[in-house]
Amino acid sequence: MRAMYICMCNAVTDHDIRREAADGVHTFAELQARTGCSDCCGCCEQEARATFDQAVSQVRCQLPLAAA
Ligand code: FES
Repeated sequence: MRAMYICMCNAVTDHDIRREAADGVHTFAELQARTGCSDCCGCCEQEARATFDQAVSQVRCQLPLAAA
């Protein structure tokens, strides 16, 4: 699947965001710190947050449930 640029200011793609989520990034602030996503003009923030939230949800669904 081809990457789609989410943040043009900092050249952050949807693949970059999904990779960060898979690497354990679980807050948008941490994503920003690691990629620079949405820290310039801010035009991408809504789409970036939606992409990130979806990626984090997918990561959480793939985690095995802990036995009680
Ligand atoms: S497009 Fe992402 S900060 Fe400008």
